[in-house]
Amino acid sequence: MLNIVIFGAPGSGKGTQSEMIVNKFGLDHISTGDVLRSEIKAGTELGKTAKGLIDNGQLIPDDLMVSILAAKLDTLTASKGVIFDGFPRTIAQAEALKKLLNDRGQDVTAMIELDVPEEELMKRLLKRGEESGRADDNEETIKKRLVVYNQQTAPLKEWYKNEGKHCYINGLGELPRIFGDIAAAIESKI
Ligand code: AP5
Ligand code: MG
Repeated sequence: MLNIVIFGAPGSGKGTQSEMIVNKFGLDHISTGDVLRSEIKAGTELGKTAKGLIDNGQLIPDDLMVSILAAKLDTLTASKGVIFDGFPRTIAQAEALKKLLNDRGQDVTAMIELDVPEEELMKRLLKRGEESGRADDNEETIKKRLVVYNQQTAPLKEWYKNEGKHCYINGLGELPRIFGDIAAAIESKI
């Protein structure tokens, strides 16, 4: 079982690189942002709760997010492993993920950190906001997402270093080079 956490600030390329990792390693992809956006689209209660928080750049509470993730994991049978995109985002979520996987006789194989400077993140997300119109891709909300990332999510780098799972990737540049670095990092942890 290969369980990869793809990690980085908003706009760092987690979703883009996940697709390429899925193709190469045959993993299932769980993007918690995509799960929440489909709940919003379907107009569910969860979607209504999530929309207010996402539009304001805030995180969904840990207990809710962990139960969503656990339910999603249970739907995957005969999986070769999972790429976790956008989860964990807090220390509490990282601890919960470790427990969920350990209970299944598994663990996180590698945590891939995509490092991209903030000016570039802002540029990418504003461009996407113009092209595809994700509701949280506007300057005000992007700034809030970056503050939340720096305060609540960035400490996970140290947490995964202590676990011996952290892999640093320069996320600025051409997609194939970044993907090559990611694939090499994953292979070094298998
Ligand atoms: P989520 O959907 O996870 O959004 P995010 O973390 O803000 O990140 P993005 O999806 O915007 O960026 P990405 O890193 O996937 O980059 P992408 O490949 O798209 O979460 C949204 C919200 O949901 C959160 O704010 C929170 O409210 C809630 N949420 C989700 N998970 C949660 C959790 N676990 N706990 C609590 N709340 C949670 O690339 C971005 C753009 O850049 C694209 O247009 C792409 O084409 C372009 N691009 C990619 N790579 C490159 C490159 N190398 N060079 C140039 N352009 C590039
Ligand atoms: Mg994404």
